[in-house]
Amino acid sequence: MTAKIVGIGTCVPETVVTNDDLAKFVDTDDGWIRSRTGIRERRISKKEGTCELAAGAARRALAAAGVKPEELDIIILGTSTPDRNFPSDACSVQAAIGAANAVAFDISAACSGFIFALGIAQAFFQSGVYRTALIIGAETVSKVTDWSDRSTCVLFGDGAGAAVLKADERGLVDMTMGSDGTKGDILACTSRTLGNFLTGAGPKLGLMTMDGQAVFRFAVRKVPESIELLLERNGIKKEEIRYYVLHQANERIVEAAAKRLGEPMEKFPMTIDRYGNTSSASIPLLLDDMIGKDMLKTGDRIVISGFGAGMTWGAALLEW
Ligand code: ACO
Repeated sequence: MTAKIVGIGTCVPETVVTNDDLAKFVDTDDGWIRSRTGIRERRISKKEGTCELAAGAARRALAAAGVKPEELDIIILGTSTPDRNFPSDACSVQAAIGAANAVAFDISAACSGFIFALGIAQAFFQSGVYRTALIIGAETVSKVTDWSDRSTCVLFGDGAGAAVLKADERGLVDMTMGSDGTKGDILACTSRTLGNFLTGAGPKLGLMTMDGQAVFRFAVRKVPESIELLLERNGIKKEEIRYYVLHQANERIVEAAAKRLGEPMEKFPMTIDRYGNTSSASIPLLLDDMIGKDMLKTGDRIVISGFGAGMTWGAALLEW
């Protein structure tokens, strides 16, 4: 048995923030942001929290799948920006959608969260423990963004995407996941728990820091490498892949990955122009966009691939 995606749903905040809007309070401009990242605008939460976005995406995914909340066995939510450290956002989503029979928990794998959630669900399906799962990538990255740092604040956006998975004979063919904790400092966000009551050490504010060029170098090597590995070990030629659905971090990273794979850009759909980097939500947001455009047909082979803080990475070969 494997995991098959039977429904996708997404939810983004109402407020659109354009590059020109950002240029009003940060020393940047539309031309720089577009040429370096491909981003034109992003959604930023004014009132919606991570749980609200996640629950909105979950309801739409369930409706698309024709699955009732009480049929869910498990909810796995990937986020680096939970509303609360505890209870988990997954438990809050469980309560919000009425999935009374599901076990629910969050995972922390940054932008690889959706792919890692898929991998965990797959393991439960393969072992026969569960048959119906909800996986979610949901973020309000704007809450941990340093809005005075122009090299990071222009990159990110808020949003959520969810997928309902069912045990099936076909669907997820194979996947790979990896981590390299030695590179943890190139993309990080400290937690308030680093403070200490007894010694009086103050917690650093939980704002993101990033060595952009180191992340760029890591991504353009790791993304193609993990995809090549996946295709090779399954005896699949690149011509047999309909689309590569890559984490939307930066248009230039996607272009570099396409070049290294020797594949045409038409096979690399993107939503980065409208949403920016939504971290764990970017892959389901892109899949939903593709479904809306009727780009995916039954039997299509696609690869989804993500990378993120940790550093973490993962890729999955799917038969749609
Ligand atoms: N507007 C205008 N100028 C800027 C901005 C901005 N928003 N940000 C940086 N600059 C300036 C810098 O100050 C620098 O100026 P200087 O030469 O006078 O010092 C100049 O632009 C070049 O800066 P670089 O950092 O060298 O720019 P680079 O071409 O590397 O682009 C970027 C920066 C876009 C962050 C790039 O490194 C990148 O895309 N890295 C990958 C980051 C990424 O994808 N992160 C997502 C991580 S999360 C995840 O999804 C895993």
